[in-house]
Amino acid sequence: MVDKHFSPEAVKSPDLPDGPQNISIDAAHPLSQTAASDSTIARNSPGPVEYEDTESAALNSPNSLQSGPTQKDVIGSPLETMGCKTLNAENSSSPDIIKQGSENVERPSPSTEEKEEGAAAEKLRKKTTFSNEVSDNVKATLKPCPSMSSNLNNYDGSEDSTPQVNASPMMEEAWERLKKSYVYYKGKPVGTLAAMDPSAETLNYNQVFVRDFVPSGLACLMESPMDSDIVRNFLLKTLHLQGWEKRIDNFTLGEGVMPASFRVLFDTAQGKENLLADFGGSAIGRVAPVDSGFWWIILLRSYTKCTHDYSLAELPIVQKGMKLILNLCLSDGFDTFPTLLCADGCSMIDRRMGIYGYPIEIQALFYFALRCAQQLLKPERDGKEFIERIDKRIRALSFHIREYYWLDHSQLNIIYRYKTEEYSHTAVNKFNVIPESIPDWVFDFIPLRGGYFIGNVSPARMDFRWFLVGNCIAILSSLATPSQATAIMDLIDERWEDLIGEMPLKIAYPALEGHEWRIVTGFDPKNTRWSYHNGGSWPVLLWLLTAACIKTGRPQTAKRAIELVEKRLSKDGWPEYYDGKSGRYIGKQARKYQTWSISGYLIAKMMIENPANISMISFEEDKKIEKPRLSRSSSF
Ligand code: GLC
Repeated sequence: MVDKHFSPEAVKSPDLPDGPQNISIDAAHPLSQTAASDSTIARNSPGPVEYEDTESAALNSPNSLQSGPTQKDVIGSPLETMGCKTLNAENSSSPDIIKQGSENVERPSPSTEEKEEGAAAEKLRKKTTFSNEVSDNVKATLKPCPSMSSNLNNYDGSEDSTPQVNASPMMEEAWERLKKSYVYYKGKPVGTLAAMDPSAETLNYNQVFVRDFVPSGLACLMESPMDSDIVRNFLLKTLHLQGWEKRIDNFTLGEGVMPASFRVLFDTAQGKENLLADFGGSAIGRVAPVDSGFWWIILLRSYTKCTHDYSLAELPIVQKGMKLILNLCLSDGFDTFPTLLCADGCSMIDRRMGIYGYPIEIQALFYFALRCAQQLLKPERDGKEFIERIDKRIRALSFHIREYYWLDHSQLNIIYRYKTEEYSHTAVNKFNVIPESIPDWVFDFIPLRGGYFIGNVSPARMDFRWFLVGNCIAILSSLATPSQATAIMDLIDERWEDLIGEMPLKIAYPALEGHEWRIVTGFDPKNTRWSYHNGGSWPVLLWLLTAACIKTGRPQTAKRAIELVEKRLSKDGWPEYYDGKSGRYIGKQARKYQTWSISGYLIAKMMIENPANISMISFEEDKKIEKPRLSRSSSF
């Protein structure tokens, strides 16, 4: 396939990625064959696997689902099955038709004044509801389960002393684009497209990615009035997809695996919509997304905390879905570490980047999801046992990460002086890391003030690279102790040029170059130095930085980053990522109008204007586990 990004004359700058930049291996993605045009309808190919919509009842009636997800479908056929076209806000049959019970109710589009009036009334209603809730501290109609009640009732985002964010033209544009990216299934919004770039090949960017939907979902929950339906629908729809039998070649994936992405297709022959999901079987590298299930649990908590709608999390299928996800991670095996062993490319960085093993992003999300599940699981029947297993794992995991992943000036000095070949439980250098393996750049990068969780720890291997997602999630979930969280923010301040540069934010630092790039990425032409996952800058990460800044009491740092984003993001067409050491150039293969760049900006703004919004996605400090009780040498 010819790569449309091929440009032999590509101008080089010392700041720009090098290597064989002009080949796109993404172009070989199976989806690209149909994705070129969403409206392409080929009649001769076999239709997609039949999907029976057993959960649509749940979309219509929150409380009607009592049985577990059915296993109707086998994923084995590639997604280039034809006969279908993708539906989204633009071509959905009738986004304005709301199903109420069995009736279709036509909703006329409200005028601007009506919308404003409606919004004001909704605000007032929320305010009244909130003060009622506060006065008796109990939600009259929705009774949270015991494990949810204490921690999930304190979201006060609807307390409307909230300054409504002044809708700047950039915010207005962002909202408009976000709404346009809605994907509808049977007339109901169920997610957002990854990107809507009319000028680039769609590949799989015309799908709803679970991880990409998280900032979109949070934006809808923070919106005033709140648009929680899409979040609820998304959670139910993806849960249903989890129930599919997931087979790649002859191998069946674990029951709990959540899809990386899904799409809605219209089968013209049968005149109905179908869903097609990708569990990694069509992804580059064929790796299942470990992060999807964790993000799903995290978003479920945000939804519950924000709406006080406990009925969703209490549904037996939702409880079961959570347990299936957790089962994949909590089951006994050969592990000697509480961290989760992963394949390369199983998260946001979904290509080979040397993050196999125990990557910080997954460990932090794992910890976050465990803490959310702790609040959401009902302690009935096997729920109690799950909660106990979670409690134990949280303790072990937090100790392990806080101790062995933490790097600051004094810790680096300790590693630098490590003895090797120590035997027995008294070993200080437990993983037998050879000091000579510490890369030179780390010595310059580590400031006297500040620290961070390194990328990966496993036998004789410490990946010293900085990864933003893992570190920010560690702050939000309180995996980082308060002093570690402060030190991470100090590091960001001290290393602003490297980690933020001209366009927030570096996904990883530093980039792999030369021989290392060849060995670690396998000559990946998309991940050349300072590009894409290899040291590229991703605007979506702004929301994670902002949340971490608010949590650590550093809103000024977030404001500085937001200002940088505002200088260019909209003008540049909301790209997916930027290239170059300081993030000066729009990414070589970046999609424009990337939805999570848009929604990430929106929620960063809404959090900075109303810091109460952060409680939707963060945990309060847990004083009891603030300091590891065990010391390095006595933990085993
Ligand atoms: C790319 C990114 C991945 C993202 C997807 C959709 O594959 O690496 O993190 O989810 O695009 O935006």
